[in-house]
This record gives sequence, C-alpha cells and structure tokens, in this order.
Amino acid sequence: MYMNIAIDGPAGAGKSTIARRVAKELGYLYVDTGAMYRAIALFLLRSGVDLNDEDAVSKQVKDCHVSLRYREGQQEVLLNGEDVSGLIRTEEVGNAASASSVYPEVRDQLTRLQRELAAQENLVMDGRDIGTTVLPHASLKIYLTASAKTRALRRAKEAQGKAFDLEQIQRDIEERDDRDMHRKISPLAQAKDAVRIDSSQMSIDQVVERILQLAEEEIK
Ligand code: DC
Repeated sequence: MYMNIAIDGPAGAGKSTIARRVAKELGYLYVDTGAMYRAIALFLLRSGVDLNDEDAVSKQVKDCHVSLRYREGQQEVLLNGEDVSGLIRTEEVGNAASASSVYPEVRDQLTRLQRELAAQENLVMDGRDIGTTVLPHASLKIYLTASAKTRALRRAKEAQGKAFDLEQIQRDIEERDDRDMHRKISPLAQAKDAVRIDSSQMSIDQVVERILQLAEEEIK
C-alpha cells in the first residue's frame, strides 16, 4: 500500500504551494489534479465548443488524452502529447476548467488517471474531490481553506504590479467556490475524516509543518 495524502480546498487556499512543499519534504510525488482539468478545458476552448452544451463537450473530450510526465520532480501536463503546462495557467482556462469539470465524461476520465497514479506511488494529490471521491481511503486527508478575502488578497499579490480590482477578484473567487461546491457530481466538500486547516492566519511554513506532523503520525 502506498501512502496517499489528499489535500482539497477552494481556489486560492494555497493548496498547490503547500502540497508541493509537503511532497518534497517527504520525497513523494506531487500530483496537481487542477492542472488536468485545466488541460481538458484548454482542449475545449481550442475546439470552440460551447461549454454549456453537455452533449457537445462529452463528445469532444473523447478525442482528448491527458497524461502527466515528471522532469526533475516537476509535473508536466500533456494534452494529446503536447506539453501545455505553461498555457493552462490563465484565469480564462481556470474558469473554463471550473465550468467543464461539472460533466461526468470529464470527471470520469481524470478520476481514472488519478487513481492509477495513486496505486503506483507515494504521493500528495491536491484538488477538490480527492478525499471524498478519488481516494476515499487516502492515508491522510486535509481540507485546506482560507477566507474569501484572504484568498483574494493573495491573488492580488500575484498580480505583481499590474492593476487589479480587489473586490472583483473576491467576487470571482466566491463565484468559483459556489460553482465548485454546488455542482451535482463530486462537489468540493470536506470529507468526514479530513483535518480542516484554515490558513487565513497562518504562514505557508506553519501549514506545511502541521501537515508534516499529521503525516508523521500516520507513517508511524
Ligand atoms: O485548482 P485549480 O484552480 O487549478 O482548478 C481549476 C478547476 O478545476 C477548479 O475550479 C475546479 C476543477 N477541479 C475539479 O473539479 N476537481 C479537482 N480535483 C481539481 C480541479
């Protein structure tokens, strides 16, 4: 049995930074499942399909193959063999991923891939439904959250000198939360056996430390 750590939570809670650090400390693989949903979203955006049209999206995704590759410990996402790791990091693709991830055809394809990876490696996997649906028997489950205001401020800091509208960023975050939490299949939710960590008043180091403590208790 491999050690699987699931980290779920809303957009902007710091999941990927923290999951990557925890994985590095433990010598585990880091799997960013949001990147997989983003890769499918990029494929759909390129195809010009209407993201509200479930039948059309379900047909299109049959031609879409997402896979992962690791180079020097860094995850790369391949879309039909093309490395799209850089291209998927835009708000447009993030919003399209939130919209297209509501469909079973999209979720089933990626859930299968995520389970295959977890069966082969010690890993830290982050997403929205890892503890609830993808890996219900994960060794450790974390639900990482922060207030919408804190998450908006963190996003704004990432704008690095570019003009931004903090209230608009917060509204976008709340809208994305609402969609991710209220979709019919695998909505974002805290698993019953997940440890909830609110990072609003915590530094990255403090959160990493807390998760490492919990992981050590599991490994013992
Ligand atoms: O974590 P992220 O911002 O890269 O994720 C983009 C979108 O993908 C997110 O709004 C919802 C979807 N997603 C999902 O439905 N399930 C996951 N396990 C990961 C992401």
